[in-house]
Amino acid sequence: MSFCVLITRKIPDAGIKLLREKGYKLIINDQDRPLTRDELKSMIRDCDGIISLLSDTINKEIMDAAPNLKVIANYAVGYNNIDIEYATQRGIRVTNTPDVLTPATADLAWALLMAVSKRIVEADAFVRAGKFKGWAPELFLGNDVTGQTLGIIGAGRIGQAVGRRAKGFEMTLLYYSKSQKPDFETETGARWVPLDELLASSDFVSLHCPLTEETYHLLDEQRLKSMKKGSILINTARGPVVDEKALVQVLKHGPLAGAGLDVYEHEPQVHPELLKMKNVVLLPHIGSATTETRNEMARMVARNIIAVLEQGKPVNPVNMV
Ligand code: NAP
Ligand code: GLV
Ligand code: GLV
Repeated sequence: MSFCVLITRKIPDAGIKLLREKGYKLIINDQDRPLTRDELKSMIRDCDGIISLLSDTINKEIMDAAPNLKVIANYAVGYNNIDIEYATQRGIRVTNTPDVLTPATADLAWALLMAVSKRIVEADAFVRAGKFKGWAPELFLGNDVTGQTLGIIGAGRIGQAVGRRAKGFEMTLLYYSKSQKPDFETETGARWVPLDELLASSDFVSLHCPLTEETYHLLDEQRLKSMKKGSILINTARGPVVDEKALVQVLKHGPLAGAGLDVYEHEPQVHPELLKMKNVVLLPHIGSATTETRNEMARMVARNIIAVLEQGKPVNPVNMV
């Protein structure tokens, strides 16, 4: 029996190859843009599986358009774009791409932390504009990183990987997560603290929790205002974890000195005020964007599709069906 799989946007060939070898019918959106809702609904109709992106909203309306749908393989570790409860109710397996993107995303969080504190982007633009006239004692003074305090919110795979990297910078490590992580504490010396204590004491705060009902606007106006004076916020998790409007205010008026953002509350829109600020570094959601990582993610979604369609059992399950 031949299965039909919709791939909502071209992913690396490494994954497509595995599906082709199975002789599946593949419907691939090879246009360089996301599918509209109507396109998605019509293209998914006869499909047994879908490889979706984090930017595709896979809700009841979309699932109802696909009576044969058995598996949604999200090309991401985060799955807040999918109505998991409804998928489970329908008996549809949902899968994601954990672990393989952990190092790439942790590295990117660090790249942002360094870029903001050392004013890398601003300084690069300065040199390119021909403004570098020689070494100067007070040119582009930034923030220290070594020896400072890093607060990690969400000590899962990526949060812990970010924490491990902090050891090399001799940082004091604080974390806030739903549960305490004894192994992580032993390995890194990290200490669990309540969220409010973390915000008040950290020079750098890096977000690594998923977007859920609980974490929506976890950093709201009040919490942002309670952050340590001169601190820097890094967000490589999900935009809506932070109230972006309030973030603009604390970047303008304090207490924050800067921010490094890979994700936005209304992605791909970016708050217009952020675009004007020199103390923020803005990236287009590229946490997992390395060639090897994206190839492995492509193989992973393909393996999950095949495992569900042929054995009824995913490799990286998100829901219990
Ligand atoms: P993970 O291993 O599931 O880690 C998430 C951690 O967040 C868990 O350890 C969990 O804590 C914690 N958490 C959940 N709810 C929380 C809450 N209300 N308050 C505080 N902590 C909470 O996931 P991961 O693989 O590290 O990925 C984390 C997130 O990063 C993904 O969900 C995704 O949104 C984002 N991401 C972004 C990019 C990018 O391109 N920028 C790339 C990859 C991932 P407990 O363990 O204590 O329950
Ligand atoms: C990227 O944002 C992911 O969740 O994989
Ligand atoms: C892996 O978990 C890492 O530290 O990159």
